[in-house]
Amino acid sequence: MEQAQRLQRIPPYPFREIAALKARMIEQGREPIDFGIGDPDMPTPQFVIDALCEAANDPATHPYDESGFGTEGYKHAIADFAKRRFGIDVDPDGEIQSTIGAKEALVHIVWAYIDPGDVVLVPDPAYSVFKVQTSWCGGAPFPLPLEAENDFLPDLDAIPAAVRDQAKMMFLNYPNNPTGAVAPLEFLERAVEFARENELLIVQDAAYCEVYYDDADRPHSILEIDDAKDVAIEMHSLSKTFNMTGWRVGWAMGGRSHVEALSRAKSNVDSGTFMAVQRAAAVGLVNYEDFATELQAEYRARRDALIVGLRSLGCPIEAPRAAFYVWAPVPAGYTSEDFATKLLSDCQVLAIPGSIYGPCGEGFVRMSLTIKGEDKIAQIEQAIENMRRGGVSW
Ligand SMILES: Cc1ncc(COP(=O)(O)O)c(C=O)c1O
Repeated sequence: MEQAQRLQRIPPYPFREIAALKARMIEQGREPIDFGIGDPDMPTPQFVIDALCEAANDPATHPYDESGFGTEGYKHAIADFAKRRFGIDVDPDGEIQSTIGAKEALVHIVWAYIDPGDVVLVPDPAYSVFKVQTSWCGGAPFPLPLEAENDFLPDLDAIPAAVRDQAKMMFLNYPNNPTGAVAPLEFLERAVEFARENELLIVQDAAYCEVYYDDADRPHSILEIDDAKDVAIEMHSLSKTFNMTGWRVGWAMGGRSHVEALSRAKSNVDSGTFMAVQRAAAVGLVNYEDFATELQAEYRARRDALIVGLRSLGCPIEAPRAAFYVWAPVPAGYTSEDFATKLLSDCQVLAIPGSIYGPCGEGFVRMSLTIKGEDKIAQIEQAIENMRRGGVSW
């Protein structure tokens, strides 16, 4: 049966292929040390699991969530979190939308705003969903290069005037996947000003907001900027904060009209998040501080071990400031793909070629600190040893 032309406009989801490659290696008895997909390897905290069990035993959670925007309990927990964490006021009644993770929200906001031909400013390198969904709606992605020299922030002043005039949306993603960068408040301020000048909507993906290493780098919400709600919507997620990727729960917050547009799009496609999951997510947010501190300490130890190891091989790398990714430049003479292939075949180390994230990702590999299996630090040290033996140096 012939498939829709529409489907031909989007590539297969990249990580599906990487998962298949890893499965083939395991079949051949060559399980790699896996720095691939950014999926937390640690369990969801027990207090969240307990809350889910209790909520799932309450038949009141079993029907559709007819509110459309999320349960009152979940939306209030989000508003309280936003106040405590960012010092911002977000109205549970109209400025918050419960979502099936950040990904779903990113998809539906594009469908809510982008018509064929509309220009969307998309960071490069970036999470593939921004560009793929734009193309799927017939929009025209315009790349915003993220360069190390500019702390992996886009240079908004370098965007040509004609592109600004046509642009209707701009994606930002801080903390950033894949570079591990954070956005200082001054940048977010400039971005809001830019959005106002050019009448576009900022979609800020904050999925990694609680994964950071140093209090000085504690990520900000774009909604901390005065009147940002007029021009911005921010996507949050429990996936990475609480090791809950499979649970599919997050939220969007921002100006009423943007939240309403997202809600209208998504409510015609899905029927919301299981109310028991929303109750458990609310319990997570109420108690997030202690768990987040524990999680950050674990990733900090892994990050430090990997950075020390890479530097011992001569790699000129700065430690990432947030997100659980290490964005390593490849040694001279390799493309990202060649280098990732060498790591896999000669060192049994699985890293993702940076070019998967866009042309500006060429020259880098991404190594995720979410490592499956026992003793993570020992695995990181083993990976470095394998690289040394495999002749990797910078
Ligand atoms: C930048 C970015 N945004 C969003 C997501 C998806 O998050 P969620 O599980 O909340 O859909 C990911 C997942 O890896 C991501 O890297």
